[in-house]
Amino acid sequence: MGKVYVFDHPLIQHKLTIIRDKETGTKEFRELVDEVATLMAFEITRDMPLKEVQIQTPVCEANAKILAGKKLGIVPILRAGIGMVDGILKLIPAAKVGHVGLYRDPATLKPVEYYVKLPSDVEERDFIVVDPMLATGGSAVEAIRSLKKRGAKNIKFMCLVAAPEGVEAMQEIHPDVDIYIAALDEKLNEKGYIVPGLGDAGDRLFGTK
Ligand code: PRP
Ligand code: URA
Repeated sequence: MGKVYVFDHPLIQHKLTIIRDKETGTKEFRELVDEVATLMAFEITRDMPLKEVQIQTPVCEANAKILAGKKLGIVPILRAGIGMVDGILKLIPAAKVGHVGLYRDPATLKPVEYYVKLPSDVEERDFIVVDPMLATGGSAVEAIRSLKKRGAKNIKFMCLVAAPEGVEAMQEIHPDVDIYIAALDEKLNEKGYIVPGLGDAGDRLFGTK
């Protein structure tokens, strides 16, 4: 079963509280989602492989470590996932970015796929799929299914706020995918919104309604 990591770092929790607040406007919401994505990326990349190299410091020759160069791909689920991409790229600028476009049908709550574009070397890359919200789990489950269908093997999923229902769905359908979240909330309401949540992530991020 996929592991669930909750990033309870004080900076992440503080920023998430401001993100949740309905008085927080689009500009600040966007900036904070970006910052939290950077902080989460720092944790999620903890297991990146290193290799040893020899360098010359101003003092002497030394053995030192650099990244082994494992290829990475970031895949935001459109739209709201886009808000987390730049924050991650600040730490791993060489990563390639794919996109999976899904929207949740408001009546059925089922995801509808409308766009997929991934790096051509899908099979060689490790992927981080990102979306601020994991509600019923339908969108994340479908996006990851789409990646696997195209050859992706090693996938992590990262989001800001998750509902227990979404975590359960992911663990059932994609037991090989670890989940990284900033907060595990209480439940979903009758409209499929996370409670207490932060509202509609896409609308708050892009200022639409
Ligand atoms: C939101 C959110 C997730 C999805 C989560 O997207 O960004 O993708 O809902 O819900 P689920 O776990 O029940 O599938 P939405 O469908 O509102 O589209 P948008 O990002 O284009 O606003
Ligand atoms: N999508 C959102 O943007 N917010 C929720 O609470 C649930 C799904």
